[in-house]
Amino acid sequence: MKKNLFSRTAATSFVLGLAMAASAQQANFLSNNHCIYRVDNSQKVLLLPVQEKAEICNIKVIDGNSQVKAFNIRLASNHIDYYVPLYISEYKNSKNISLDIHVNGTYRNDGGVSSFTCWKNMKYADSYDMTNTEQYRPVYHHTPAYGWMNDPNGMFYKDGVWHLYYQFNPYGSQWENMTWGHSTSTDLMHWKFEGKAVEPDAWGTIFSGSAVVDHNNTAGFGNGSVVAMYTSAGENQTQSLAYSTDNGKTFTKYAGNPVITSNTPDFRDPHMFWNEDIKKWNMILAEGQHMNIYTSDNLKEWTLESQFGAEYGNHGGVWECPDLMKMKVRGTDKYKWMLICNINPGGPFGGSATQYFVGDFDGKKFTCDTKPEVTKWMDYGKDHYATVTFDNAPDGRRVAMAWMSNWQYANQVPTMQYRSGNSIPRDLDLYEYNGDIYCGVTPSPELTAARAKKATKNLTETCEVVVSLKGSATLTLSNDKGEKVVMVYDEKNNTFAMDRTNSGLKDFSDDFAVVTKAPVHGKMSQLRLFIDKSSIEAFDAEGRMAMTNLVFPTKSYNKVTLKGKGKYVVYNLK
Ligand code: FRU
Repeated sequence: MKKNLFSRTAATSFVLGLAMAASAQQANFLSNNHCIYRVDNSQKVLLLPVQEKAEICNIKVIDGNSQVKAFNIRLASNHIDYYVPLYISEYKNSKNISLDIHVNGTYRNDGGVSSFTCWKNMKYADSYDMTNTEQYRPVYHHTPAYGWMNDPNGMFYKDGVWHLYYQFNPYGSQWENMTWGHSTSTDLMHWKFEGKAVEPDAWGTIFSGSAVVDHNNTAGFGNGSVVAMYTSAGENQTQSLAYSTDNGKTFTKYAGNPVITSNTPDFRDPHMFWNEDIKKWNMILAEGQHMNIYTSDNLKEWTLESQFGAEYGNHGGVWECPDLMKMKVRGTDKYKWMLICNINPGGPFGGSATQYFVGDFDGKKFTCDTKPEVTKWMDYGKDHYATVTFDNAPDGRRVAMAWMSNWQYANQVPTMQYRSGNSIPRDLDLYEYNGDIYCGVTPSPELTAARAKKATKNLTETCEVVVSLKGSATLTLSNDKGEKVVMVYDEKNNTFAMDRTNSGLKDFSDDFAVVTKAPVHGKMSQLRLFIDKSSIEAFDAEGRMAMTNLVFPTKSYNKVTLKGKGKYVVYNLK
């Protein structure tokens, strides 16, 4: 197995300090694949060594004679990439905590699990150090403090705080052990890691879902309680509820779970919202390659009203993570409904992407305005997926966030302490163009508020570049190692393209080095580029083109070259 020296060094320094070695004697090997590990209960954190290319181990945490947790982890077999924490302090009232560990794979000739390097490297510590060790971690984008992240889940706003939950693996930086992680922000720019909010249970791991603020206590969990619905991913995918009476900090699972079942294998990602037009709750859920739409009075009992989409839009993959919302069409008094449908694979440049449909919704049935064969994409980059909006956002805003990656290579991108970030928040609306209605995608005003007072000409790793255009132009970001990203606005053909084929590290996947190209609706007079260490998000300032792409320059880009009619300024973002 190939060793990764960089991350090895990072992982070692990561646990220095208060950590002390746990004894290998605590492991009792019962076969090549099985051992029992006795945990010292007087300690707070057990640091588990992970090797990303090792076999999966299934761990049961046993308190006395009862299983209290189960998770999968790639325990280090011959080198350590990083450590993850098991919080023993969660079991401080118990006397005997043991780990029952089963390793997958065949280990007949090499001593089996007893030969693994992890045993002599397990360590106890008083806390887990989350200080960033990654060169590619964005600064003003949300990332998990450690571990893997995919879709944004259950986002809501309440009492001045934006809550973001997400698909989280607390035991490694690759997809596994789906749990809802939680972060909060007061400005959509700086995020605080709040830990695990909803953990796997007997019904399965916790897949994507939504949360609503139940102002009128329709569910009976309490006025203003936050009610979440997520997919329990067990033998089948079913839908479960959890509620919070402390503003989303902790959740109690509903005793009547699961609340919705089906025999379809892909049946997930419920998105609930209050529909003022019919004074009921609605919920939209992805089933195979169509959406189901439900109504409810109390968030617990749901009636299936209709299905949408089997013959509409793109069907190159499974439909996932829906959303449905009413929005005003710019410059008119007209309201329309927009249905968001994330799809994987099938995106315009391969893999994951977000499509949407505009039409009418009577509270039961969605009717699409366009012909079945029309597909509209919300973002024309490669790294924009699982887009959904916040519930209860102020001033009627529709604030969306996406997961900034692509299932084609999300598990391989060159970071280890954490993997994946979210896009910047974007305010959505609708606009007309050539007799059709499209989704407007504009960077949220919080981004503009975060600009440094003075604009400069100096490109930094965490900035916004604002380009005023008077026609076609080519903008290149580059470093002195010859790595570059080339963006071309072609006014004649109404397109914008971004070429990341020579942008830096790319060999981790054959699907990474691409040129992405978007149609531009009307003339673009201002281009806004958000750069944050390993991501570039490009927008037409009027919201008629969005493109999100990851990049991994080995040295940050420090030069901007603009050819064509236009000028640019750079704002550092605080
Ligand atoms: C989309 C998705 C969802 C699912 C979740 C599992 O990226 O596949 O459909 O709920 O990820 O992590």
